[in-house]
Amino acid sequence: MDQPLLALKGIVKTFGPMTAVDSVDLEIRAGRIHALLGENGAGKSTLMNCLFGLLRPDSGSIEIEGVAVEVTSPKKALELGIGMVHQHFKLVPSLTVAQNVALGREPHSGPFVKTKEAEATVERLSREYGLDVDPRSRVRSLSVGAQQRVEILRALAQDVRILVLDEPTAVLTPAETERFFEVIKGFAARGLAVILISHHLSEVRRVADEVTVLRQGRRVAHSAIEEVTNTQLAELIIGRAQPIVSEVERGTPGETRLSIDGLDVRDGRGLEIVHAVSFTVRAGEIVGVLGIAGNGQTEMVEAITGLRRPASGSVVINGIETAGEHTGLVRRAGLGHVPEDRNGRGLAGYWSVQDNISIGYLDTPEVGGRLTSRARMGALARRLMIDFDVRANSPQQQARRLSGGNAQKMVLARELSRKPDVVVCAEPTRGLDIAATAAVRSRLVEARDLGAAVLLVSSEIDEVTQIADRVLVISSGRIVAEFDDHRPTEAEVGRAMLGGHE
Ligand SMILES: Nc1ncnc2c1ncn2[C@@H]1O[C@H](COP(=O)(O)OP(=O)(O)OP(=O)(O)O)[C@@H](O)[C@H]1O
Ligand SMILES: [Mg+2]
Repeated sequence: MDQPLLALKGIVKTFGPMTAVDSVDLEIRAGRIHALLGENGAGKSTLMNCLFGLLRPDSGSIEIEGVAVEVTSPKKALELGIGMVHQHFKLVPSLTVAQNVALGREPHSGPFVKTKEAEATVERLSREYGLDVDPRSRVRSLSVGAQQRVEILRALAQDVRILVLDEPTAVLTPAETERFFEVIKGFAARGLAVILISHHLSEVRRVADEVTVLRQGRRVAHSAIEEVTNTQLAELIIGRAQPIVSEVERGTPGETRLSIDGLDVRDGRGLEIVHAVSFTVRAGEIVGVLGIAGNGQTEMVEAITGLRRPASGSVVINGIETAGEHTGLVRRAGLGHVPEDRNGRGLAGYWSVQDNISIGYLDTPEVGGRLTSRARMGALARRLMIDFDVRANSPQQQARRLSGGNAQKMVLARELSRKPDVVVCAEPTRGLDIAATAAVRSRLVEARDLGAAVLLVSSEIDEVTQIADRVLVISSGRIVAEFDDHRPTEAEVGRAMLGGHE
């Protein structure tokens, strides 16, 4: 076969005692989409960060068209034609979309000088690729999905030959994902090489030409996509046969724990984004709110959890009216919250795993009280890391250094282990591998069986239809369908999500 465009040879990257990437070879060809798969913590992002100059490998080499290159910084990577869309956003929240794009593009001139030009670029690219964003919006005010679109546009604005996409679709809506796949297929058709990291095998199958699987830092497989089945891929990823998912029994609900009545929420400009939403969640049941991202569910959750003041309506947790109250009071009323934006709201990146876990326990005898001892915090963190399979080098590891899936498991560990009466979780399995996804879902069922009232807000149809006892569908800020007496099929909810028309 012809020479690869890019070759990684024997890349090793260690962090202290742990080897995150262990002698990995990877050959990437122009015009092909190469999927990089592996469970949470397998080393995918680390390997790509070595390629993008964010990390220096301990050993190994990188070749472009057979010539060894030193990628000493992201700037160098861009000069070499390597672009990357990161798993964790690297945008400046106080700047506009266009300014963020300009920042990536014009390392030598200030972002403000080039704003007009960048606005035009963003407008052109977003039209061309069907990625809807307003170039003049401040990134701070954007949803996670829109921020991801900005990341993608910023990469597109570079003149890249090799584009690395680290879980780019995790926060896109199905329609956006569809368009996005057309975009990357277009890239490949024009001779670019695309490296795609994803946990969704069905997506991978639809776009990738070849796959490489990493497990515990090692390359365990490489093949053309048509030569492996999804079952084989799943086994390669987790290193054993896939567990059979048994059907989850419906719960036996008790008294009402969370009651939402006539909830209206407006955005910063006064536009109503949640209209007259009412529902209850009882102890011992999981109520799923299913909707395509951007239909008001994020704002609804913010209003329920004290992160946003509703325009009107009531939120009652354990008999206590909490609408408009701050998060501290809402927590004391009995709420555990696994937020959608785990990096922005769920954790403090510069804090250790131990501190991130302990902060949820400060008002409990386990950690709090008159003397908060580091020893007790450490013991708690170690116990929960085992219980929830949070893979970190130690409880001292900074949260921002966890792999994406492990960061999510840490947030879940903190929120669920306190056994709150009401659990509100949004997109709890986003970015999680197959095994972790199954584990999180059974955790939620377990919480329900121990008597928690669980509100599961998700855009994953299978997630909601698998474990929710009742399903509500949200569209344009309204509850448009309710399935109370049976678990709906995927087709039934799919129709409702699209507003009844297909
Ligand atoms: N800067 C760092 N310092 C210490 N350990 C790190 C650092 N970056 C990554 N690690 C560790 O390296 C391992 C690989 O992490 P990496 O982020 O590459 O995984 P991943 O395959 O991208 O997983 P995910 O699917 O969850 O995103 C993890 O155990 C992680 O904790
Ligand atoms: Mg990663």
